[in-house]
Amino acid sequence: MNTNTQHTINNGFYNGKVVWITGASSGIGAALAVELASKGAHLVLSARRQEQLEAVLAECQSPENHMIVPLDVTRFETHASAFEAILARFSRLDTIIVNAGIGQRSSIADSDLEMERRLMDVNFFGCTSLTRTILPHFLSNRSGQIVVISSIRGFISSPRRGMYAATKHALHGYYEGLRSELFQSGVSLSIVCPGYVNTDFSIYSLTNGHSTFGQMDEEHLKAMPAKTFAKRAVRGLERQKALLLIGGWERFAPWLVRLSPGLVRWMIPRVIKTD
Ligand SMILES: NC(=O)c1ccc[n+]([C@@H]2O[C@H](COP(=O)([O-])OP(=O)(O)OC[C@H]3O[C@@H](n4cnc5c(N)ncnc54)[C@H](OP(=O)(O)O)[C@@H]3O)[C@@H](O)[C@H]2O)c1
Repeated sequence: MNTNTQHTINNGFYNGKVVWITGASSGIGAALAVELASKGAHLVLSARRQEQLEAVLAECQSPENHMIVPLDVTRFETHASAFEAILARFSRLDTIIVNAGIGQRSSIADSDLEMERRLMDVNFFGCTSLTRTILPHFLSNRSGQIVVISSIRGFISSPRRGMYAATKHALHGYYEGLRSELFQSGVSLSIVCPGYVNTDFSIYSLTNGHSTFGQMDEEHLKAMPAKTFAKRAVRGLERQKALLLIGGWERFAPWLVRLSPGLVRWMIPRVIKTD
């Protein structure tokens, strides 16, 4: 696991940069927007719920510097036109943060294919399709920053989160491959792995293809505030870190999996609550 800095520290890294954030209508995406606006970034805020995007925009410093591009990341055919709208306003893009995602609250025995496909469409193809859309722009400019919001569950799986963990593990395989292709291209790639963060994530988590959990669970209620998460994430992203693990004790889980996989296999069904 390499958490080394890829480039040197750049003061005011985000000042004047154009940053596109998906899933910007709530939680981690909204908190990243507010933090990056305070650093002088020009933001493109995307998600499905326009009213929530307007509310986030109003919270951001210098709202006139930013734009809203409503987007359902699973409507892959709209990705190119969304990017064209951004270029029409700003003429360039410097950073993309592929953050939109949904969770899971059901055992594999109780899941259905529709839920599995939905999770993969939002959490995996929603990221990869957007990344391929903007990649030629970054490569021809020989600059740009790709930021993927994965999860600690990109390294470790657990009961009732198996498909969610699969989508995040898949991101790691894909983006580590892309990282190697970006060698000497001038384009950086950061994978950010949150532990528990206090957001609406559990409320919108899928129990099957047709229904959501609908409740805030205890882990998320007691978790790190999204604002704290965003400050830590932006600090690491300014340094273009390859990998960021941000959270409470759970951020050590990927190291434990590497050091003692047998112990982790023994512990998970005994220690992890299965709500
Ligand atoms: N909170 C945690 O503890 C935690 C831990 C590890 C990783 N993460 C990751 O962090 C990311 C953000 O989650 P969060 O905690 O901030 O949860 P959240 O508050 O529920 O935010 C999820 C965001 O994704 C957007 N989204 C969902 N489906 C979408 C779609 N089809 N098209 C476009 N946008 C869509 C939502 O916007 P609309 O509904 O308006 O479209 C919302 O803005 C996710 O990738 C998640 O896996 C979260």
